[in-house]
Amino acid sequence: MSWQAIDRRTVPESELGPGISQAAREKIRHFFSRYPTKRAALLPALHIVQDQIGYCSLRAMREVAELLEIPPAAVMDVVSFYTMFWTHPRGRKVLMLCRSISCQVMGADKVQAAIQQKLGIGEHQTTPDGQFSFVTEECLAACDHAPCLMVNEKMHKRVRVEDLDRILSDPDSDKLDLPRSDLYDAPK
Ligand code: FES
Repeated sequence: MSWQAIDRRTVPESELGPGISQAAREKIRHFFSRYPTKRAALLPALHIVQDQIGYCSLRAMREVAELLEIPPAAVMDVVSFYTMFWTHPRGRKVLMLCRSISCQVMGADKVQAAIQQKLGIGEHQTTPDGQFSFVTEECLAACDHAPCLMVNEKMHKRVRVEDLDRILSDPDSDKLDLPRSDLYDAPK
């Protein structure tokens, strides 16, 4: 594959995607007091963006850059570095299957084939109804429970092909019973 350079200043308005809401802007501003510089609030700002609109659109990245008073390229650098940030719409639930050695040995490849067959999508794709996206990721840090599948923030352990229908149909398969860290939620 050859590299292709895109001048994002020339992307048509219609392809910039959604911007961030006033509520999300406020939430981002709440983080400024926690850090010595606005730039340092970039990671929580991007999580807030992704929580609000489902991914990091070009318009949202531009708006975050303005809020944090940094170049848009600095925002793009961070978004493109971390695989957990998406630059295209993702499903309501993201299935993240471990592709590292313990999970592979314990059958992750069969689980992957079954997920892709059931959902009819490949890696980094989203079902037409917007419900599911699928990705593989390196070690999810639960190797002794291989194979591991995360649904949004919830870890499913020792997943077998026979478990998938239950996991896919359970509306709470992505819900954690824990309060979120205040490192994520800005102070009121
Ligand atoms: S190898 Fe899969 S969780 Fe570590």
